Amino acid sequence: MKIDLSFNALQFDEIQLRDRNVVVIDVLRASTTVTVALFNGAREIIPVASIESAAKISGSLFGEVTLRGGERNGKIIEGFNLGNSPVEYSESAVKGKSIIYCTTNGSIAMAKCRYAKSMIIGSFVNLSKVIEFMCKENKDYIIICAGRVNSMDNFALEDVVCAGMIIDKLMDKDDIELELSDSAKAARAVYKSLGRSILKMLKNTEHGKYLIEIGFSEDIKICSAIDSVPVLPMLLGTSIKLRREEEKIE
Ligand code: MLT
Repeated sequence: MKIDLSFNALQFDEIQLRDRNVVVIDVLRASTTVTVALFNGAREIIPVASIESAAKISGSLFGEVTLRGGERNGKIIEGFNLGNSPVEYSESAVKGKSIIYCTTNGSIAMAKCRYAKSMIIGSFVNLSKVIEFMCKENKDYIIICAGRVNSMDNFALEDVVCAGMIIDKLMDKDDIELELSDSAKAARAVYKSLGRSILKMLKNTEHGKYLIEIGFSEDIKICSAIDSVPVLPMLLGTSIKLRREEEKIE
């Protein structure tokens, strides 16, 4: 298994990802929120790259079963039903709903994967599910860290630590032969150096500090809880759903 890694999604267009198996990571908070929403019974998440696309798509869907969720600068978008806090995506809010999802970084990275061979969502809350799936598939992967378009370096430390942790756990598997790109090796080294306390690390990242400042401290805790939401969201067509066997049984 060869693992490549990108520190942000900017350099890719949809065509470049066409034949790739991709893991998209946006720990704070898109990949965590998508995972929580599907765990709580959302029918599907439809990731879009812009507010305009969200408006266009929702115009053709029925209001009652469709919600619009996402953020700009971490806060709910005007006219949307939900922001981007995993807390908002409770069972009572999302069960049975299709959610058109638009965020600053995460949903853009997810939407870029629509021609990928496969795309799964990775975060701390579903870490083991991601590793389990990658091992089972035993294919080459590119891990795309969503990064932060509104920072100078388009870099989000929390995504890289999460990617590094996935890579480190894959290294422990005896039955997998791993080949790491330089960027994948770097992510693993970052995890080794900063991954002892995930909560502490998240609280000290640029985006973590910003989320705390605007009142989302609880989200940081939720996003740090390893394997607390043990499901695997994956792209099926143009929407993200749970793998069938993981859908909640009544
Ligand atoms: C993003 O896509 O940039 C994030 O998920 C932002 C956030 O809501 O924290």
